[in-house]
Amino acid sequence: MQIGCVQLLEFRNYRTLSYRPSARVNLLTGRNAQGKTNLLEALGVLLTGRSFRTSRLAELPYWGAEAATLSGDLLRAEGSRTVRRTLQRQESGTWLASGENCPWARVIAFGWQDLAIVHGAPSARRSFIDGFAARLYPSHLAALLRYRRLIEQRNRVLQMHPTSERLAPWDEQVATVGMELIDRRRRAVAALQGELARVYAAVSGERQKLQIGYRSVIGEATEPAVLVAALQQARPIELRRRQTLAGPHRDDLGLELDGVDARTFGSRGQQRLLALALRLAEVLPVAEAAGTAPVLLLDDALSELDPGVRDNVLREIQGAEQVFLTSPEPLAVSGAARWVVDGGGIAAA
Ligand SMILES: Nc1ncnc2c1ncn2[C@@H]1O[C@H](COP(=O)(O)OP(=O)(O)OP(=O)(O)O)[C@@H](O)[C@H]1O
Ligand SMILES: [Mg+2]
Repeated sequence: MQIGCVQLLEFRNYRTLSYRPSARVNLLTGRNAQGKTNLLEALGVLLTGRSFRTSRLAELPYWGAEAATLSGDLLRAEGSRTVRRTLQRQESGTWLASGENCPWARVIAFGWQDLAIVHGAPSARRSFIDGFAARLYPSHLAALLRYRRLIEQRNRVLQMHPTSERLAPWDEQVATVGMELIDRRRRAVAALQGELARVYAAVSGERQKLQIGYRSVIGEATEPAVLVAALQQARPIELRRRQTLAGPHRDDLGLELDGVDARTFGSRGQQRLLALALRLAEVLPVAEAAGTAPVLLLDDALSELDPGVRDNVLREIQGAEQVFLTSPEPLAVSGAARWVVDGGGIAAA
């Protein structure tokens, strides 16, 4: 798929913007703090309704504005669709987003915050695999929200009435929805595996094999009853800590380079490359699942990489469909449309 055109009103530092990108690689350069990341964020919000860098809607409208709007035409081989979204300030002061999702719109974003997937806490890896699983299986998101609510409710029981009788019905529900999540996460990991090894070898130029695995409290088990048993086993500690301690909200991903935990690979450039490889490995499975290639939003994806690796990454993204790549410095990218972002505006370079 591609973004044919986009219009912004009062989004971040863009008061008004009308932009018609190229269908292939778009290179966005410009000095710091001019709006490169903001524009990528706007494209992501247009496509999915969510920002890849914040969960707080209030940050997105131009400071002091009462509303922000984004609209644009999304194109794919079978036809096009116009998408419109509004962020509106309510009388209570909270922000409300409205607008319909396009069922085939898919975006894969990479930004500096993705380094946390490699060296951060398990929660960063869980959000990574949940985001990918949701791009493959859109019902994953609703199940994830349902699961979160269940855990909140179960935790409340642990805090207010911590008895086995009260907890038992929650165990069943947590295990059923939890197993659904674990199953989709495992399938997502399996879908990523082959591409991850290929992409990492292609961009690093090394022979090392990058592998990903799903690490769950229930091991390889597939029945909800095993999760119920894990909850029962954790019960004495749960009663002390008053928190649900077993389930997919505590699981993690393992990342290994030739069998060695990738988190122990210290160099910053290498960590960036691992995180970028994870995002690029999503492209093919997402395209297959959605029936159309995702739009790639790569924010400052080449910084800290050496020239040879940069060339490898550029070669890899030439094979993608529509790509937006930002950089504070000019880059040589053959065949790319060049744009300069300056003070909340954009112009062809
Ligand atoms: N809601 C907002 N309203 C107005 N301006 C904002 C808003 N949010 C952020 N900004 C401003 O937008 C400017 C551009 O931010 P952005 O992160 O897009 O820069 P950038 O071009 O990606 O810079 P860098 O090269 O440093 O990554 C910043 O100066 C920031 O203060
Ligand atoms: Mg930026």
